[in-house]
Amino acid sequence: MQEHRIALKNAGRINPAKIEEYIAADGYQALETALQTPPEKIIYELTQSGLRGRGGAGFSTGLKKKFTSEASCVLLECMRYIICNADEGEPGTFKDRVIMEKDPHLLIEGMIIAAYAVGAEKGYIYIRGEYHKSIELVRRALESARDHGFLGDSIMGSGYGLDIEVKLGAGSYLCGEEITLLESIEGKRGYPRIKPPYPAEKGLFDMPSLVNNVETLSHIPAIIRHGSEWYKCIGTKHSPGTKIFSVSGDVKKPGNFEVEMGTTLKDLIYGFAGGIKNDRAFKAALIGGAAGTFVPVSLIDIRMDFETLKKNEAVLGSGAIIVMAEDKSVGEMLHSLMRFFEHESCGKCVPCRVGTRQLRLLMEKITGDRSVKSAVIDAMLQQSELLAKTSLCPLGQSPVLPIRSAVKYFRDELEYTENL
Ligand SMILES: Cc1cc2nc3c(=O)[nH]c(=O)nc-3n(C[C@H](O)[C@H](O)[C@H](O)COP(=O)(O)O)c2cc1C
Ligand code: SF4
Repeated sequence: MQEHRIALKNAGRINPAKIEEYIAADGYQALETALQTPPEKIIYELTQSGLRGRGGAGFSTGLKKKFTSEASCVLLECMRYIICNADEGEPGTFKDRVIMEKDPHLLIEGMIIAAYAVGAEKGYIYIRGEYHKSIELVRRALESARDHGFLGDSIMGSGYGLDIEVKLGAGSYLCGEEITLLESIEGKRGYPRIKPPYPAEKGLFDMPSLVNNVETLSHIPAIIRHGSEWYKCIGTKHSPGTKIFSVSGDVKKPGNFEVEMGTTLKDLIYGFAGGIKNDRAFKAALIGGAAGTFVPVSLIDIRMDFETLKKNEAVLGSGAIIVMAEDKSVGEMLHSLMRFFEHESCGKCVPCRVGTRQLRLLMEKITGDRSVKSAVIDAMLQQSELLAKTSLCPLGQSPVLPIRSAVKYFRDELEYTENL
């Protein structure tokens, strides 16, 4: 069983602080090709490749670029922006960090190509503030890219100019949400704006802006070099390419594994991550992070791609897989997720501000005899559905995912859970 590496192809093989080593590994060749290609052709190629966002929502990367490049400015002075989302706040996700620390130039090259495709003149990489090593290595990589003419006024003599700057994350989960992230870059408090308009139409400083995740951007150089047909042969029909899964929890070898889309959960847990620690039995995996879903042992053979997971009411999300062994409590995990949502709710809208607290309190009320517990579980389901319908932003729409799946697969266990 082997990984299939695209975003992690150089990880551990080159010195991330030396641009020469990246160049020797065919680095910046895709950029040279891209700069000799009309932007519409690059967007076409990316759309054809079927690449979808790796940050959580799974939107078509090519289409996003098309919308950004075609958006007209509302203000007279027009400027387009590119933003790399490197906030990596989803619990259980730690893959963007590896790209930034092991191969920052791959991300930068992908970002420059994407910026050229949409006509962006300024870029920001919004990095989680606690990722000190990533911040240092990305800053250093940007400097050497500038020194080598890959950034600046006329990149590689093409006449196209771009500069990229690092911005530090504000330390809130919500700031990873694309619109809130834009507010944060503008120096405002991390409150979301109502969508639409989407960033492609009205983004940073009200200008058309492209927001992509680190892993998404890191696929672009390979697609430009080898073509969309090559890319489409990897993974599944509707989820082409590879995905990095961050596997943690009760496994023998936690880590990041880049595999073809459609690899089974079982292969990830028992093959790549070495199986369950202390040879206990597998109970469940929380897939996609806090805004994710529980998957029970009956679904261990599930293929990890957008469509298969969706058909099973699960989500791929950012690729987090938190594994729980037989002796772990789904109730405790759910309780900690409810505490997380209550803590991270920004309080801007009432349903989420009050509702996330209510959900945490309800979780703590799953006590007493079975009929009382059952009534509380129904109330949690109702409350989270209501929250999903009435909240202003995707954070308030998230608690329903783990709650619904926990109740669907582990209702019996929840009805027996002792006081939390
Ligand atoms: C509460 C919340 C937190 C998020 N955090 C992140 C994050 O840390 N990194 C990320 O790339 N996307 C995050 N997202 C998803 C972004 O809003 C957005 O979909 C993504 O950056 C788009 O890039 P992509 O199309 O390349 O996936 C978050 C979304 C929500 C609702
Ligand atoms: S849903 Fe929650 S996080 Fe989003 S705006 Fe409302 S209070 Fe803030």
